[in-house]
Amino acid sequence: MTMQRVLSGMRPSGKLHLGNLVGALENWRKLQEDYECFFFAADWHALTTEYNGTEIIKESIREMFLDWLSVGLSPEKSVLFIQSQIKEHAELHLLLSMITPLPWLERVPSYKEQQQELANRDLSTYGFLGYPLLQTADIIIYKADKVPVGIDQVPHVELSREIARRFNFFYRPVFPLPEPMLTEVPKLLGIDGRKMSKSYNNAVYISDPPLEIRQKVGQMFTDPNRIKRHDPGNPDICNVFAFHRVYSSATTLERVNSECRKGTIGCVEDKKNLAETLVDYLGPINERRAYYLRNLDLVEQIMAEGCQRARRVASETMEEVRAAMKIS
Ligand code: TRP
Repeated sequence: MTMQRVLSGMRPSGKLHLGNLVGALENWRKLQEDYECFFFAADWHALTTEYNGTEIIKESIREMFLDWLSVGLSPEKSVLFIQSQIKEHAELHLLLSMITPLPWLERVPSYKEQQQELANRDLSTYGFLGYPLLQTADIIIYKADKVPVGIDQVPHVELSREIARRFNFFYRPVFPLPEPMLTEVPKLLGIDGRKMSKSYNNAVYISDPPLEIRQKVGQMFTDPNRIKRHDPGNPDICNVFAFHRVYSSATTLERVNSECRKGTIGCVEDKKNLAETLVDYLGPINERRAYYLRNLDLVEQIMAEGCQRARRVASETMEEVRAAMKIS
């Protein structure tokens, strides 16, 4: 039996944080063992919103690749590549646009939501409407079976299924129908208790050095009802405890849980413990990152080789697509 194929992409937005790590990368790293994986930097997708400030994209791709490699995405196990280097995605996007009814795109929930959320930018563009169609091309050009994404991206993968089905019906069956792959992920909030996000300035980065981690953890919000050192606390509403759940041992978790409720461990001490746990956890990741930073040629080479491997697969699919559409 051949392995099923997994594909996912990430918009390059610079260095990645722990939210990205637990939300996606840890999962990607595990998937490498059981699937044939394709992971890529979606730099054309970044352009749909950043078309007016494109100079940061290139550096962001490199930062993102450094993080990918340092957390254990492996060029031996997976194909790691950059969307814009595979022009076939653009050709397929164009061809699919011919068979895509406009209302299918207009009713994708993220379309109106994002326009409202990013009201400071003009997103009434052709490219932005086509965002999920470009994503469809990304997915089906590799004949992906499974697409690991967050819940917000599920409608995009469903659209890919609909379009793939329509193509297969009009011409001939070329594409398997991709499925979203949802994994339970723990929610880590930023140090101020809001969603962890670069734009909120509240993120702990994968590449943060120990000093920075200790400072950030020291600033984390805890149970707001715990005012004095010996007040009993409630770990269920404490963000520091949410981090313990992800990164600490079962014994520590149990101890912190009961001592917090009794008020026998203070938040300051608790945060110091968490900081050291995080420092230990990120230590090897930091070391690998430093290694790749000293060997940027190697990173370039990994990117180039990944692109080559991706291109081979994508161009084969495009031969089939053109033949099916009788335009070869
Ligand atoms: N839209 C995805 C996101 O913002 C990124 C993406 C682009 C993607 N192309 C993809 C994800 C293909 C999965 C498959 O997270």
